[in-house]
Amino acid sequence: MASTLQILIFSVIFFCFNPFTSAQPSFRPRALVLFITKDASTLQYLTTVNQRTPLASINVVVDLGGQFLWVDCDQFYQSSSYVPARCGSAQCNLAGSKACGTSTPPLLQDVFAIQSTNGKNPGPIVSIPRLLFTCGSTFLLEGLASGVQGMAGLGRARIGLPSQFASAFSFNRKFATWLPSSISANGVIFFGNTPYTMMPNIDISSSLMYTPLLINPVSTASSYTQGDRSTEYFIRVKSIKINAKSISLNTTLLSIQSNGYGGTKISTVNPYTVLETSIYNALTEAFLREANLPRVASVAPLEFCFDSANVASTRLGPGVPSIDLVLQSESVVWRITGSNSMVQVRDNVLCLGFIDGGSNPRTSIVLGGHQLEDNLIQFDLAASRLGFSSSLLGRQTTCSNFNFTSNA
Ligand SMILES: *[C@@H]1O[C@H](CO)[C@@H](O)[C@H](O)[C@H]1NC(C)=O
Ligand SMILES: *[C@@H]1O[C@H](CO)[C@@H](O)[C@H](O)[C@H]1NC(C)=O
Repeated sequence: MASTLQILIFSVIFFCFNPFTSAQPSFRPRALVLFITKDASTLQYLTTVNQRTPLASINVVVDLGGQFLWVDCDQFYQSSSYVPARCGSAQCNLAGSKACGTSTPPLLQDVFAIQSTNGKNPGPIVSIPRLLFTCGSTFLLEGLASGVQGMAGLGRARIGLPSQFASAFSFNRKFATWLPSSISANGVIFFGNTPYTMMPNIDISSSLMYTPLLINPVSTASSYTQGDRSTEYFIRVKSIKINAKSISLNTTLLSIQSNGYGGTKISTVNPYTVLETSIYNALTEAFLREANLPRVASVAPLEFCFDSANVASTRLGPGVPSIDLVLQSESVVWRITGSNSMVQVRDNVLCLGFIDGGSNPRTSIVLGGHQLEDNLIQFDLAASRLGFSSSLLGRQTTCSNFNFTSNA
């Protein structure tokens, strides 16, 4: 998904960032919303963004930790309003970046339009006259859902969409994801200020638990410049419990090392949580022991599968042992119940939705999409904290319960 082009792109961005000085629209929203769907074949989360003149709707993959919005300019880009991002700023000259002043800058600005929200309903469309994005090539679309023309990076970089939206409308640098658990349902990503209200009139934002967001000092992008920090969102998992019993883990793997290895991050481009091998083994052994269910054949890429006839259904999904991620203290726990641990791979087969990431992965725990679905997860960049709801099914709402009827 990344390329050598991105080294260049990132250098340009890093050194040549220009704040948004363009005119503000007259209506100032307090929050924005993107609608999310799940692609059946890739399990990627997709959204539609609107940019260019005339305005075009572009399907993109949501990349939570991605550095920026990029779109395929080889095949599709046509606009009368784009401008190359201006380099030659003081920072740019100071850095002496070779990429600055290149005749074909991959960093562009163009009109961007997005739906506002009052937190309850979609509101008027608002526009940002100059939103920074990068131009990618068609080959970068390989592996992405069909019909997609780029990726929307929501990472903590200054040119990530959350920071750009916040500076365009002067709202807080925070956003919240609510990923759908089904390909037939919609989810939402809110940018800006709370509340986040779901039918039947439940304000989720008032009942989140919080944990610090950590910065990995070494970029986790596949190509980057020495000294770059990761734009991905890391949290600290201190221990893991299965049915409230601690499992034994190598704690070194749970912290971010000075070389950037280890730790726990959150990802929307991994469909399932990926664990370093020793963590995977400890978790799955304890889970199997506690579940005490006969296994059926594996369904790749998932290893541990069960006949669903043997598993009770509960309000929180299949009745299986709970998986608790214990965060900064024993009282701050991200609980993963059956709805987020088990995957219905066929009518009668449920599999544990965790994957073995090998023995020396860059990041020890990558919390993937399935484990995030129907959870409201708030990324507060200014306060450097992550708020999470755990599954909302227990509160009788799902992420499809946003009222999609516009009040505009
Ligand atoms: C724990 O993990 C670290 C980092 O991978 C490794 O160097 C160390 O040998 C591991 N310790 C044990 C007891 O396996
Ligand atoms: C959804 O929003 C519309 C527009 O504000 C409103 O008329 C409708 O009653 C809402 N539906 C529910 C179920 O709250």
